[in-house]
Amino acid sequence: MSAAAGASPNAGRPAIAILGGTGTLGFGLAIRLCAAGYRVVIGSRDAARAAEVAARLRLPNATGAANPDAARAADVVILAVPAEGHAAFVAALAGELAGKIVVDATVPMDAGRAYTPPAAGSAAAETQRLVPSARVVAAFHTLSGRLLAEADRPLDQDVLVCGDDPDARAAVIALAGALGARGVDAGGLEAAATLEGLAVLIIGLNIRYRRRHLGIKIAHLPPDARPR
Ligand SMILES: NC(=O)c1ccc[n+]([C@@H]2O[C@H](COP(=O)([O-])OP(=O)(O)OC[C@H]3O[C@@H](n4cnc5c(N)ncnc54)[C@H](OP(=O)(O)O)[C@@H]3O)[C@@H](O)[C@H]2O)c1
Repeated sequence: MSAAAGASPNAGRPAIAILGGTGTLGFGLAIRLCAAGYRVVIGSRDAARAAEVAARLRLPNATGAANPDAARAADVVILAVPAEGHAAFVAALAGELAGKIVVDATVPMDAGRAYTPPAAGSAAAETQRLVPSARVVAAFHTLSGRLLAEADRPLDQDVLVCGDDPDARAAVIALAGALGARGVDAGGLEAAATLEGLAVLIIGLNIRYRRRHLGIKIAHLPPDARPR
């Protein structure tokens, strides 16, 4: 947690809720976003569990709450829950998610590790369909939750970010930077199926090469490149 030393909590930064923040991806994101000074509310189906997991961070800018309260308290809501039940989960929180930047990291995959998108075309498109006023952004699919949790290790990879609202994309690209990755603008939400499917490929590579931390990097994109 050394990265947190000197961080000024929440100075001008949006408050972030991580629904399912008690899990592998969500907790890894929470560690790095808190260390970067964001106020993070860890969400859970169980408020006590959320509080207990937030307390593990030992940082004043980390709190826990039941998922609906976490979503209400934040400007940006990250969905870090399993693909099973995704639609029901989002539909139940539609009121809390309305009008917010909603970051969907869901990777729908069957037991045989095949990409299994819902009828909407991707998990993120399903979220957008269920909450039309939300500014849905698909991102973080190819990050390893375990690597995120090793806060002193560099991520050294890119995060592809797509969504129909350019300002929401820019906000999530900034979050990727705060995590220690480089956010890359992948355009509109129609790219979400590609990003989700890419994560399935990365999971297969991790298994084939007996790794846990593989990610992606876009070649020949200069560090200072800006999207049009
Ligand atoms: N793990 C990774 O490295 C990684 C990387 C990229 C993307 N993803 C994607 O991110 C999402 C989360 O992955 P994960 O590995 O972090 O999952 P996980 O650890 O299995 O679950 C995350 C949290 O979701 C909550 N949860 C479990 N079942 C639920 C349900 N039926 N309805 C609502 N909440 C439920 C649990 O929190 P409570 O019990 O506290 O509510 C759990 O701690 C998945 O869609 C995955 O595809 C994962």
